[in-house]
Amino acid sequence: MSHMGETTEVKVWDLPIRLFHWSLALTVSVLWITGQLGKLDIHMVLGLWVLALLIFRLGWGVIGSPTARFSQFVRGPGAIRDYLAAARAGTARSIGHNPLGALSVLALLGLLIAQSASGLFTTDDIFTDGPLVHLVTSKTAALLSSVHRIGGKVLLGLIAVHLAAVVFYKWVKKDDLVRAMFTGTKKVPMGVQGVRFANSWLAVVLFAVAAALVWGGLKVL
Ligand code: HEM
Repeated sequence: MSHMGETTEVKVWDLPIRLFHWSLALTVSVLWITGQLGKLDIHMVLGLWVLALLIFRLGWGVIGSPTARFSQFVRGPGAIRDYLAAARAGTARSIGHNPLGALSVLALLGLLIAQSASGLFTTDDIFTDGPLVHLVTSKTAALLSSVHRIGGKVLLGLIAVHLAAVVFYKWVKKDDLVRAMFTGTKKVPMGVQGVRFANSWLAVVLFAVAAALVWGGLKVL
């Protein structure tokens, strides 16, 4: 977004989305390291935390600010084609996720959900069982443990693509996505509207519900 004349600063990412994003990034990094090192007590506590974060995110995708909502940013192939054509012509404008970036959001969220759900049924076959291993046969646990080990590698690949896209936006398109994810605001051409944020207290309640589902659920199961 260089050479765009007069600009204005508008709201894009609400505080709950930003806290979600950076705590997810931090926790998943530590999960990856503790998984590799076999520090499984820390790994499982953080894994449950990520599960609660992901459940929160699904809920916020329904009741959160416009840029958080799946109904706003998940678009069909037609919208993606139009976006790519506009991007080539240099006329693409979007607040929040663009139609192509939305695909990477869905892929990352989907894989993270699969990864943390499979972790519940993962065993190292020596000392450590995920908290729900007792619910399934040893054959199923072995299968889900493989899903979890392979999933970790696929996730690493997807995160690499995500980071490469961020670098591309910064260097080629002169659009600083990292800054926007910290400040929640973005410089746009005059006339482009930002969004109205949802109430952050709603997010606090939603996260409490998500955490209760995870830790309460594990107590019952
Ligand atoms: C998004 C969240 C998670 C990520 C990114 C993640 C990542 C990983 C990685 C990279 C490994 C190492 C696999 C290998 O040996 O190659 C691993 C192992 C493991 N994870 Fe997770 N994990 C997550 C969530 C969970 C959860 C929620 C649990 C259970 C509460 C869990 C339980 C385990 C166990 C028991 C192992 C040991 C498997 C083994 O040593 O064979 N993980 N995880």
